[in-house]
Formats: sequence, C-alpha cells, structure tokens
Amino acid sequence: MAPSRSFPNSEELLARSLKIAPGGVHSPVRAFKSVGGTPVFFKEGKGAILTSVEDKEYIDFCQCFGPLILGHRDPTVHSAVLEALDGGWAFGTCEPYSLELAEWIIARVKHVEKLRFVCSGTEAVMSAVRVARAATGRNKILKFEGCYHGHVDSLLVKAGSGLAGASASDSAGISGPMISETLVASLDDEESVRRILKEHGHEIAAVIIEPLPANYGLLIQRKEFIQFVADEVRKVGALVIFDEVISGFRVALGGMAEVLGMKPDLVTYGKILGGGFPVGAYGGRRDLLDLVAPSGPVYQAGTLSANPVGMRAGLATLKKIESAGVYSILESRTEKFVSGLKDLFTRSDAPFTVKRHSSIFWIHPENAGERKKEIRSLAALPTELNARFAPLFKALLAEGVYLPPSGYEVGFVGLAHDDAILASVLEKTEKALRKLGEK
Ligand SMILES: Cc1ncc(COP(=O)(O)O)c(C=O)c1O
Repeated sequence: MAPSRSFPNSEELLARSLKIAPGGVHSPVRAFKSVGGTPVFFKEGKGAILTSVEDKEYIDFCQCFGPLILGHRDPTVHSAVLEALDGGWAFGTCEPYSLELAEWIIARVKHVEKLRFVCSGTEAVMSAVRVARAATGRNKILKFEGCYHGHVDSLLVKAGSGLAGASASDSAGISGPMISETLVASLDDEESVRRILKEHGHEIAAVIIEPLPANYGLLIQRKEFIQFVADEVRKVGALVIFDEVISGFRVALGGMAEVLGMKPDLVTYGKILGGGFPVGAYGGRRDLLDLVAPSGPVYQAGTLSANPVGMRAGLATLKKIESAGVYSILESRTEKFVSGLKDLFTRSDAPFTVKRHSSIFWIHPENAGERKKEIRSLAALPTELNARFAPLFKALLAEGVYLPPSGYEVGFVGLAHDDAILASVLEKTEKALRKLGEK
C-alpha cells in the first residue's frame, strides 16, 4: 500500500509552481529546503491560525516572518483596509495618509525626525546606505556577519573563512567592486571592529547593524557591544544605521534604539510598519533626510511608495499596538510560553532550547552540556543546526504547529496567540517530543 500523503493538495500545487517560479516559490525560505518535505500551501489566515489547502489548521508562529504582530486578519486593520479600498488604492500623488502615519511615528520615535516611505525593507536599507554615502562622501559600509539587510547587492556579503574584513558574497551575480565596498566584522567581537576601523576607518560611510540580530537565529547582543560599535564608528566620522526591519515596532514603538537608549543617525523599517502590506521606510536625522530628492541630490523614488492601503493598515496596526498595551501583554505571554517550552525540553531530555527577546523566540538544537550557553555570534552557533531542527519542525507541523521553516529563523508571538492557544501549543509540543523520542 502506498504511504498516505499528508499534503496531497500542497504537493499538487508545488508541482505546478515548480514549472512557473524558481524552486516553486517567490522567496526562498518558503520552499522548505532547510527542513525538507513539501512546503504547505495555505489558503487563509485568521488570528493565530493558518488554514492549509488540505483544510487543516495550524497555529502559526511565522506570522509572515514578523509583520503580523496583531495576528492574521486583525479586525481593526481589516476595517482600515476596507475603508482605504473604498477610497481607491493607488494615487501616485500627494495624499494625507502617509502624512498621518509619518507624523504618528515622528511624534513617538525620538531619533526619527523625518522619513521616507518605500515598499520593502530591502529598499529602505538600500536607500539609507545611499544617503550615508552621499552624506560622508565615502563608499565603504561596515556590516556584521550573520546580519541580514535584505537582498541589497553590496550587503549580501559575509566574512570569508572567519577572517573579519575579508569579504565573500553570499550570492552569485554580485560584482567584485560591489563586494569590495563591504567590510564584515563579527558580532560580539570588539577586536574585529577595531581592526577594520584601524585600517579602513577613513573610508567608511556607515555601519549597519541589526541591533537585535534575528536572521541567523536570535543573536542577542550585549548593549555595551552595540554602544561600542556606535561610538567607535562615529570617532572615524561614519554614520550609524540601525536596521530595525524586524525589531522596529516589535520590541517597543522606538524599536531596539529605545530599548538600548541609543540614537542611530538613520533607521530602516519594514514588516510591522505596513501591517502586512508592502511598506518600508528609512528615517532619522533631518539633515540626512534632506539630502534625498527632491530636497537634495540623493535620488530615490517609487511608483507605489506610500500606497494608501499600506499606510492605513500600518497606522491602524501601530495605533492598536499603543492603545491595547500590546508590548506588556506579549512580554508576559511569551515569557510564560518560552519557559514552558524550556521546561518540556528539559523534562523530556530533548536536545533543544529556546532564546527569547520580547515576543521574538528562537527554538534551536543545543550541543551537549551547552543548555545555558549564550549565543551571540556565528562562531557560537550549534553544529548541524538545520539537520537537527528539521525533525522537531516536522513533528510540530504534524501536530498543527507552524514554525518558520528554517532553524535559523525566529518565531513570533502576537496578540492573537492568547493564553489558551499557547497552552495548547505546549501540549502539542509535549506530544511531538514524545513521538520524536519513540523514533
Ligand atoms: C533586518 C532585516 N532587514 C531587511 C530585510 C529585508 O526586508 P524585505 O524582505 O521587506 O525586503 C529583512 C527581511 O527579513 C530583515 O530581517
């Protein structure tokens, strides 16, 4: 007898998708390459739940990789979007909606004196880097190994062979000169920063860093390290760019900059900012933003920038975050949930643990005897991370829990994950671990 297929409809859609898109997907992680198996096709989302094309419900912790802090189809955002649609969805003109969203942000986020809306986090980063180069008249950018800043050519680069400062591209199709403008230091390593600044300080336009690196697992940095980086690059006349595409509006309205009590020169946003619609922004010091066209010489434009639907979805999301006291709710729920998970892993002697910051969590395998180890850099990552994460991912998927499909991706708790849902996930996890243990 042929084995029963868990995802017959998804398999069929994947077979069709493979004919029309590279790897059958429109963004790589969706293909399940890191965890194996058939990527589940989903047809609907509501609250914490995603429904697959097989009509099976999953408790979703991917939450569109971060934007949906209120959950799928939040009623407040839904109403704002319907209202926006009734008024027309793209003008390509001046309109009041982006103004309202920008004023709301600027009134609350001290280091954003002006901003420009774009359509993605990648675009925000690309533009912020351009502004930094124009402002300083320098070309080089300092970044950190393991920090992802979107698919901007010059930033798809990491350190080669652990030699900080020597760059190699993560992607084909990026020219040598482009790569040579990027210098790569190691997270949690003051010495690697010092070394690069000593040699190249006078050529560096800016440092860009995720102040809460969350694209290579969750590599929570020491505040002193982030402060050190900012202080040192400023001494050589370079700017500080915080990439808050994930952490912006997720950890606090003022993002990690607020949490750390720091003031970057430029900041980039995406994800939560558009409430699930394609919106990004870069902002910061007024004098720097005034360099952007039509005020200044840095060209940057966008046909669908400040799209009224995205603007109104974003504003509805942010207003609800503020009025519903979302951060304190998420803090206590995630705390309880993560300690429940840790407990389960310990009790069942499963080689996994969880790191957390605010409502962001990262389940990862651990090397023997390293349960309490801090992981702040790539060098400290557990070995064979994806191969060891995949069985847990699949076991949870079978129980109806959808984690982001890679051991390097973080999960998100949102307002829709209420206490009952989180308690049920703990039960499902216990079951999944039991089944894994039996194998
Ligand atoms: C920190 C960070 N910067 C930039 C980006 C790129 O954003 P987008 O995917 O909207 O282009 C991402 C995407 O995950 C990100 O996590």
